[in-house]
Amino acid sequence: MKKLNFGILGTGWIANEMADTLARSGDANLYAVASRETARAKAFAARYGIRKAYGSDAELLADPDVDVVYVASPHSRHAEQMLACLDAGKHILCEKAFTVTAKQAREVLARAREKKRVVAEAIWPRYMPMAKTIRDFCASDRIGRVYAVYCNLGYPVAGVPRLREPELAGGALLDVGVYTLNFAALVLGGEVTGFTSSAVKNELGVDTQGSIALTYSDGRMATLLYSVLGTTDRLGVIYGEKGYALVENINNFESLRAYDDDYNLIERVERPPQVTGYEYEVRAITEAILSGASECPDMPHAETIRIMELMDGIRHSWGLWYPGEKTE
Ligand SMILES: NC(=O)c1ccc[n+]([C@@H]2O[C@H](COP(=O)([O-])OP(=O)(O)OC[C@H]3O[C@@H](n4cnc5c(N)ncnc54)[C@H](OP(=O)(O)O)[C@@H]3O)[C@@H](O)[C@H]2O)c1
Repeated sequence: MKKLNFGILGTGWIANEMADTLARSGDANLYAVASRETARAKAFAARYGIRKAYGSDAELLADPDVDVVYVASPHSRHAEQMLACLDAGKHILCEKAFTVTAKQAREVLARAREKKRVVAEAIWPRYMPMAKTIRDFCASDRIGRVYAVYCNLGYPVAGVPRLREPELAGGALLDVGVYTLNFAALVLGGEVTGFTSSAVKNELGVDTQGSIALTYSDGRMATLLYSVLGTTDRLGVIYGEKGYALVENINNFESLRAYDDDYNLIERVERPPQVTGYEYEVRAITEAILSGASECPDMPHAETIRIMELMDGIRHSWGLWYPGEKTE
């Protein structure tokens, strides 16, 4: 497959992970990086052998040799940066949560259609080969009709500014809860008919942990727990009428182990060898761009919007509105 030139906006944690992934996988040319500080961009570029280091988004976006922009900034900046990328004619791979609100997501994706550029949400598990393994397993009837799902995700990151502060659209739901919603979606699909949710907030008013119960049109359910207060076991459980399956690490799938209704192990699948797991979303957007597609089939725009709408509803149910959201 032809390699595209990637430019990264941001030099933080995930920007380093992606730069390392691209350097090791060779799936794309990591061509440019932009930081709010030229010195930080230069240091980042030197670390990964990147040709162009820019001290602003605008300079990177003005570079005609950048094909795809990887947005690796706090959630609060995603929408404005994506709109600027599209106006500069760039394709985009944007970190989760895609935007702060569903309204922003709809605006960005409408602009992408208008400008005929590919935009994909970098919600990495959705692009992994194990996502297909899990979907196929659920359809296989090995554990009978799937009627419920449970999963959790948590890390001890409550003190990190971009997770603590309302102005940066902090909070556990947009950062880690989004993975639990995506795991439920992978297994049970999108026909959510209702939810209940509760959350605990920090002193600045954003959520530090929460739980969500989703109900689906045909009586199926998902129960989700997420937190930025500490480490959880990252387990996903798929419950079927003839058994159950444990998915190790819903954030970066490691294995699926299925048991029958007598608790006997009946199937075990390990994930295939990978670089870091981030290479799959890079391959997916590259393939979409080169084939002339308008989106990535593994994470269609309608699914990004549906999950953003769910997160809006969940947040509002516990009274969390981000700065400026009500006047948007
Ligand atoms: N897929 C995953 O596994 C994964 C893991 C972690 C995070 N993420 C996602 O990746 C994104 C970034 O997270 P991160 O953990 O990498 O964050 P981070 O370490 O705080 O880095 C964010 C970077 O964004 C840039 N930035 C631009 N405007 C900013 C502002 N107003 N305040 C602070 N930084 C600003 C900064 O780069 P400069 O200072 O150089 O401008 C900063 O280094 C988020 O959307 C997050 O949800 C994904």
